[in-house]
Amino acid sequence: MKKKIYIKTFGCQMNEYDSNRIYDSLKNINFEKTDNQSDADCYVLNTCHIRDKAKEKVYHEVGRVRKIFRNKKKPIVVIAGCVAQAENEEMFKREPYIDIVIGPQAYHKISDLVKKHVKSDHLEETEIDTIEKFKHFDTIKNDSNKVSSFLTIQEGCDKFCHFCVVPFTRGPEYSRPFDKIISEAEQLIENGVKEITLLGQNVNAYSDKNNSKEFRLSDLIKKLETYSELERVRYTTSHPLDMTDDLIDCYKNCNKLMPFVHLPIQSGSNKILNAMNRKHTVEQYLETYEKIIKINDEIKFSSDFIIGYPGEEDKDFEETLLLVEKIKFINSFSFIFSPRPGTRAADLNLLDKAIAKNRLEKIQKILFTHQININKSLVKKNINVLVENKIKSQNKLFGRNKYLNSVIIDGKDEHIGKLVNVHVDNYNQNTLFGKIISLKHKAA
Ligand code: SAM
Ligand code: SF4
Ligand code: F3S
Repeated sequence: MKKKIYIKTFGCQMNEYDSNRIYDSLKNINFEKTDNQSDADCYVLNTCHIRDKAKEKVYHEVGRVRKIFRNKKKPIVVIAGCVAQAENEEMFKREPYIDIVIGPQAYHKISDLVKKHVKSDHLEETEIDTIEKFKHFDTIKNDSNKVSSFLTIQEGCDKFCHFCVVPFTRGPEYSRPFDKIISEAEQLIENGVKEITLLGQNVNAYSDKNNSKEFRLSDLIKKLETYSELERVRYTTSHPLDMTDDLIDCYKNCNKLMPFVHLPIQSGSNKILNAMNRKHTVEQYLETYEKIIKINDEIKFSSDFIIGYPGEEDKDFEETLLLVEKIKFINSFSFIFSPRPGTRAADLNLLDKAIAKNRLEKIQKILFTHQININKSLVKKNINVLVENKIKSQNKLFGRNKYLNSVIIDGKDEHIGKLVNVHVDNYNQNTLFGKIISLKHKAA
């Protein structure tokens, strides 16, 4: 009989992609995915270390798992992801209930570790071996058949922003070979996937310099454009430094590339950008923005903001607000600076908590207003929506428009996986509501 694996995923889209690849990998040793956590023979927590008390949260989660299985056979408990990489075997000392600790660049070894594990073993694998990992996964079919699926093309980071743990948890920048990415995309398309989001910690730094020709993100986008069954292409997360002209030009010619650019800036103050080691100025960011909206002024931007970075004064924050007013970002993320152990900014003097909180509330109010305004502007209009799944509890369909906004619609199961034309009749900050009026196109 097959054993069951359950994965609880935290953090970014790359963790979601990785979790699916872990399922794919464990199939080879007779495991199958379960959505019922209390059935699990193997329980994986795929963790994130980006902010806050990440470590504490993981121990809290393990405590919860222990409770679920109090009167049952203990599952193999695996800690994967960025906390695993950062904490490694220290985790066993604090929580012996954990069996396996595995870092993101060692997932090619996960099925061996699970197979090898015997009662009371503590197995740790946090060697960074990105090339071997991808070689291994290139031989395993990607079984994702979600209408909208992720595909990692680049991993790791060499930029070392002073606040960020990613270069330590994901290792150095690595770009997968172009042909392997395309084969995986073809598998996804064969599985029925209609939208592919290309992923990387710095996705637009993608560079495969094989056989004297360099393949860039723009080449991947152009290639994906040629698959007739694929409806949409997205990519995330980009760094402003790597927004090269070849990528910007894709917005001219690639119809499947969605007109939505997630381009984190973190702060609107050059002083703070410099202190963060972001390696670009606000003016350079604006130049990229202008180039892109000159191609098509319907293209919208979203961003990430870190509020209350050490040294941020009122005037720096005001500059961030000015930028937000200028660009009218939608769907953005904003968080108070969280010192991460091991990073350059870890020991800097923190801002007064109340000041940081007050600034966060201010910026979020403006960001949310932009979000509401764009949603409001779509009411009574027809928009294209890619239908992703059914919300069973509401007997409605869920999809997204070109700007990645959630859309809840009346429709039939047969619409799942289709691009439909929706008449929007209502909205709130996060969601649009409407009815399907026809299949496909001629919509905003
Ligand atoms: N590589 C992307 C870039 O450079 O824009 C960002 C990747 S990071 C996983 C996602 C976001 O987390 C960052 O853009 C930043 O806003 C936020 N972040 C990272 N470290 C943080 C910290 N120490 N405190 C608060 N937010 C943080
Ligand atoms: Fe982190 Fe900066 Fe690298 Fe983005 S570019 S992953 S924020 S170090
Ligand atoms: Fe978190 Fe690691 Fe992603 S720290 S945001 S899971 S790269």
